[in-house]
Amino acid sequence: MGNRVCDALGIEYPVIQGAMAWTSMAPLVGAVSKAGGLGTLGSGFMPPEIILAQMAEVRKITDKPFASNLFIDPTPMLEPCVGAILEGKPAVAYIDSLNLLEYDFTKKYYDKFHEAGIKVVAKVNYLEDALVAAKAGADVIITKGFEGGGHVTKVSARVLLAEVVEALPDIPVVASGGIATPRQAAGLTVQGADGIEMGSAFMATQECPIHPNCKEAVVKATDRDIVAAGQSTGEPSWQIRNSLAEELIKLEADLPWSEAADKIREISQGSLRIASLEGDVDRGGVMCGQVAGLIHDIPPVEDRVVKFCKEWEELLKKQYSLF
Ligand SMILES: Cc1cc2nc3c(=O)[nH]c(=O)nc-3n(C[C@H](O)[C@H](O)[C@H](O)COP(=O)(O)O)c2cc1C
Repeated sequence: MGNRVCDALGIEYPVIQGAMAWTSMAPLVGAVSKAGGLGTLGSGFMPPEIILAQMAEVRKITDKPFASNLFIDPTPMLEPCVGAILEGKPAVAYIDSLNLLEYDFTKKYYDKFHEAGIKVVAKVNYLEDALVAAKAGADVIITKGFEGGGHVTKVSARVLLAEVVEALPDIPVVASGGIATPRQAAGLTVQGADGIEMGSAFMATQECPIHPNCKEAVVKATDRDIVAAGQSTGEPSWQIRNSLAEELIKLEADLPWSEAADKIREISQGSLRIASLEGDVDRGGVMCGQVAGLIHDIPPVEDRVVKFCKEWEELLKKQYSLF
């Protein structure tokens, strides 16, 4: 029968590893792509020379397709990031946005990638964004729901997927947000998803180059341990509750939001690094989505791609009946 995501991106399994800033570095990306999924460099905040060096590292691991991330918002980061992707030519540009998509602006960048032979995967937070992305020529759309790791979005994963599948039957759609099990993936297939994306679940893998303490923190966390910090900045993110997250939440409760936002930016500066590289999971920021309670182990990446898809397909082959 074939799979529309695999066909569009030239991959074997319809599993995308979501971009994760300073987390989805070459060892993870290369391992996911080598296993047959789509690995994505968390390159949205990286200087161009690091993006190009990371792409070279991925290519030492595999010659299969991989993606590089950018945020299509009019910020000073955009042009250098686009330039590095056009120069490094990964198979796919994986495009997120912090604001609503504007058609002319979006089309201009999608066209640049397409002219360079690079496919466009658009990660959307609203149906409106999906419609703009499709009209501008996106090859694949990822619907990222509220519960997904990274920046907190607004619409639930279940609703957003259903909206996009209904409105855009001709474009491959990848469900994202809160996924860690083949049973969830099977349910999402029935709901119209052609593939799935996971971020948090890939943090807990042997090849992910973050500190072991971070991986253990993800495995230990339950749904009650995941909090949204940074509401006042307009860009809240899901984090594992620790003394840093408690401090950020208290600041927002105690101070007017404009003051809290400034303080939060100051305190959060470098906090990802403190957790991911130095392993201080109490004072560093451990970003992880609500799905933490379903992540129980730290397997090799291949299990999260190949074994996962085999179980997913087995579940779909079972005869289900309501009556
Ligand atoms: C630690 C972490 C960092 C993230 N950083 C980025 C990023 O830089 N760019 C981006 O597009 N998405 C980012 N995300 C979101 C992921 O790409 C993905 O959409 C999300 O994790 C999917 O939800 P899940 O964690 O429930 O699987 C990040 C997620 C996590 C957990």
